[in-house]
Amino acid sequence: MPGLAVNVDHVATLREARKINIPDPVAAAAMVELAGADGVVVHLREDRRHIQDRDVRILRETVKTKLVLEMGATSEMLAIALEIKPDMVTLVPEKREELTTEGGLDLHFHGDVIADAVKTLQQGGIPVSLFIDPDLDQIKLAHKMDADCVEIHTGSFCDAPSAKKRAKAFDAVVKSVRFANKLKLGINAGHGLGYQTIKAFKGLSEIDEFSIGHSIIARAVFVGLERAVKEMIALIKEL
Ligand code: PXP
Repeated sequence: MPGLAVNVDHVATLREARKINIPDPVAAAAMVELAGADGVVVHLREDRRHIQDRDVRILRETVKTKLVLEMGATSEMLAIALEIKPDMVTLVPEKREELTTEGGLDLHFHGDVIADAVKTLQQGGIPVSLFIDPDLDQIKLAHKMDADCVEIHTGSFCDAPSAKKRAKAFDAVVKSVRFANKLKLGINAGHGLGYQTIKAFKGLSEIDEFSIGHSIIARAVFVGLERAVKEMIALIKEL
């Protein structure tokens, strides 16, 4: 059964809306672990719009499952990762003006920078996942640069404006997952996944872990965090 890593950035977004100390993503991380999640994900952005350095440092001390740090491949973030030593780093593209991570990494265009970052992190003992679009060329490049894992961007599938486009986007996800599996890469999937869209992944057993944030935190506002996590785990169990 694929695992579930829960992204708690949105708890920090709510905190930063008031610039005070509640709600605390560290408390949220403990709760998602108690509810059965297999990992906690945080994205430390260059502009610190939600997760703060303090959060990552405390989470390193408190997370019992697995701490995944999402970050851009900048020298500042590499230094932080090497000091904090998360259980995995997921390298993502980052633009200041975006609301959330938009596309996957372009390993053609930024190949050298990403390959160097992969090497630096791995030499520091940190496994590296690359967040990429469902594109076979990108997977080939990720394999070539010895990434431990790829995270397949599921946004085009989840946000597709029509059934036809959704089916096409999902087909690309399936092909990418199968190809990455052939290359013996670890396989995560995420972005935009929710309580309906997750059901499409039935039978795609090559996926190691789903990385989900917004839909779980949004549901938690109404039903509580424990129930929101448990309901997602129950759906993943059925895949
Ligand atoms: N994976 C990556 C690489 C992301 O950047 C994000 C968003 O922070 C997610 C997964 C989770 O996406 P969502 O919040 O839409 O579930």
